[in-house]
Amino acid sequence: MYPERVLSGMRPTGALHIGHYHGALINWVKLQHQYPCFFFVADWHALTTTYDETSVIEKSVWDMLIDWLAAGVDPERATIFIQSRVPEHAELTLLLSMSTPLGWLERVPTYKDQLEKLSHKDLLTYGFLGYPLMQAADILIYRANQVPVGADQVSHIEFTREIARRFNHLYGREAGFEDKVREAIKKLGGKSAKLYEQAHKRYQEQGDVVALDQGKALLGEAKSLSQVDRERLYGYLEGSYKQILVEPQALLTPASRLPGLDGQKMSKSYGNTIAMREEPDSLTKKIRTMPTDPARVRRTDPGDPEKCPVWQLHQVYSDQDTRDWVVKGCKSAGIGCLECKQPVIDAMLKEQEPMRERAQPYLDRPGLLRDIVANGCDNARKAAQETMREVRAAMGLTYS
Ligand code: TRP
Ligand code: SF4
Repeated sequence: MYPERVLSGMRPTGALHIGHYHGALINWVKLQHQYPCFFFVADWHALTTTYDETSVIEKSVWDMLIDWLAAGVDPERATIFIQSRVPEHAELTLLLSMSTPLGWLERVPTYKDQLEKLSHKDLLTYGFLGYPLMQAADILIYRANQVPVGADQVSHIEFTREIARRFNHLYGREAGFEDKVREAIKKLGGKSAKLYEQAHKRYQEQGDVVALDQGKALLGEAKSLSQVDRERLYGYLEGSYKQILVEPQALLTPASRLPGLDGQKMSKSYGNTIAMREEPDSLTKKIRTMPTDPARVRRTDPGDPEKCPVWQLHQVYSDQDTRDWVVKGCKSAGIGCLECKQPVIDAMLKEQEPMRERAQPYLDRPGLLRDIVANGCDNARKAAQETMREVRAAMGLTYS
């Protein structure tokens, strides 16, 4: 019943590389034309693992934001903000924490994975265990129903859904709910009211999902209802509680096929990256020195693209004709590796040129970026405060 809304966040890792671009940002840029979007920097999430080295966070935040804008995220379309500038995220995290079972947090698969992977750090902290709950608050506070994430984050979205469901069950019965529902049904008017009650009965007593859909459709079309009444009846239809928090969906981003310079996954910690705004000379040199199929020792030795990381780059950056040319030339030793790499270099430089152009004004005038973010934070905060008013009221914390 709430309007579509997309939300996603990234921890501030500093300047981004082309893996981030092809893995996430391209998708954000597309989504901003389809839905109202909220994109934020999860600086508090960064603290869960780097609480002992906070001095780099600020620069990382600004560098990352410039890359979002360079990629084409448009502040006229999307709300861009910083998590810690919307302190309501902390309030919702705290309130949700009261009813979050420890076992749920301990069983989120990323928890044990990350503890093992980052074993050089002491992560047996309250904040780190609570990582997925803070993420749930990030999402729920905007009533976002679509969350674009990679496969590694799907368990966090599932967790968020459970948190929302639990909250709605605990606090979704406003005082006098049944009476208000009866009043709202009256407002539906004779025939619709009867159909609604039948749908409610069939779904609640027999689990008839067709009836559920019919009931929902009916509410969607009922012009006589206020938004509040509509939500009430929607909640009653589904299971007699009000949907205060909205269960989100993961909008799974297809995994980027982009390898790092050594053929492993592109990652800062492997030192195999190309930045989104790499200096052209440096980009050219990185690709030219990239390893290829080890069988091609001499120019006259034939090779196999399947054994070469450059081939994976061609799959992202080259058209079919170029790819045919690569396969044929590589296997017959008709082309040299430097020759083969040139179209990739050209395509990357072409992709990055507009990014450098878009970033330049923000590099020249940092105030421009500060203004965009201040504005985004204001907008985000308004939306967050609206939800928090309802959350506090549902929990009996209004004190009016
Ligand atoms: N955990 C996410 C990641 O590591 C970042 C994040 C924090 C996030 N809060 C979010 C993503 C809310 C989507 C929605 O990538
Ligand atoms: Fe790799 Fe191209 Fe050289 Fe073949 S010709 S080994 S695909 S760089």
